[in-house]
Amino acid sequence: MPEAILQRNLALELVRVTEAAAIAAARWMGRGDKDAADGAAVDAMRFALSSIDMDGTVIIGEGEKDEAPMLYIGEKIGNSLPPQTDVAVDPIDGTRLTALGLPNAISVIAVSEAGSMYFPPKIVYMDKIAVGPEAAGVIDIEAPPAENLRRVARAQNCEIEDLSVVVLDRPRHEELIKQIRQTGARIKLIPDGDVAGAITCFMNERTGLDVMMGVGGAPEAVLAAAAAKCLRGQIECKLWPRSEQEIRDALEAGLPEADLKRVFTSDDLIRSNDVYFAATGVTDGEMLKGVHFYGHGASTNSIVMRSRTGTIRRMEVEHHWQKTPYELTGKGG
Ligand code: FBP
Repeated sequence: MPEAILQRNLALELVRVTEAAAIAAARWMGRGDKDAADGAAVDAMRFALSSIDMDGTVIIGEGEKDEAPMLYIGEKIGNSLPPQTDVAVDPIDGTRLTALGLPNAISVIAVSEAGSMYFPPKIVYMDKIAVGPEAAGVIDIEAPPAENLRRVARAQNCEIEDLSVVVLDRPRHEELIKQIRQTGARIKLIPDGDVAGAITCFMNERTGLDVMMGVGGAPEAVLAAAAAKCLRGQIECKLWPRSEQEIRDALEAGLPEADLKRVFTSDDLIRSNDVYFAATGVTDGEMLKGVHFYGHGASTNSIVMRSRTGTIRRMEVEHHWQKTPYELTGKGG
């Protein structure tokens, strides 16, 4: 573990990266063009990352090199100075939310020591269950939803009916939703954005949302694991291949066969206790306000966390176009 990474709170620098991406993305809010929003966020994020003192490798990014011109898996980022790090980015989690002007789109980055992040090649989805600190030790992704909800209610000293469960609104979750409803628990269906969905459960005392269940993106699981480590929550996941072909492609790309049946905890998804996490709201949401524009600038709302110290900073920042580089704002400079 390099000394430098221990001394420095990288997250305080990383928040400038998510702020830049969120401002760029928010320009596209409600304009119906999710690719343009994502492209703007990627450009801004990459520009901001180039000035960070680190020798980073993108482990979770915009895709493989041939499908993503920037922030692709394996891309080196930062200015090559130590420490060596693994980097997970999602310039916008909730591109559709942004394009439609819906709540809870965020820009996210997580950094940990080199070699510590898990990424399953070619596997698009993971099945997930995420909870806050009180229920962190009791969940089991292999148990039925009703059993997990019983355990969470017991750990949180409440009735199942008091719990709120976050589920991505997808046809694949029809049976899951039915089973949750049978327990009497309440449900919050979200149209997109299960990184924010998981984080709201890690902060259940603040948000009133207790458990996230269901299948979402595999990259998003690693980002959520980074947040779980900072917020003392827990996420458990299993790979959720959609077809035999996806399994074959994954095995060919080097996925160990045993991983197909494995249960992954936050500690398996990120094998490090030095994790830095920053997220900035793009659109207004439960966890973070979005970017608000004014004539002279914009305000951003971010959360900045570090697992080793457990420090959680909430940052409301004003940005002034006249004093901020054009590449970060698309204005002034
Ligand atoms: P993007 O904004 O990166 O497209 O992701 C949005 C999202 O809702 C994630 O939060 C979630 O993990 C994933 O998509 C779910 O995938 P799908 O929309 O295919 O069900």
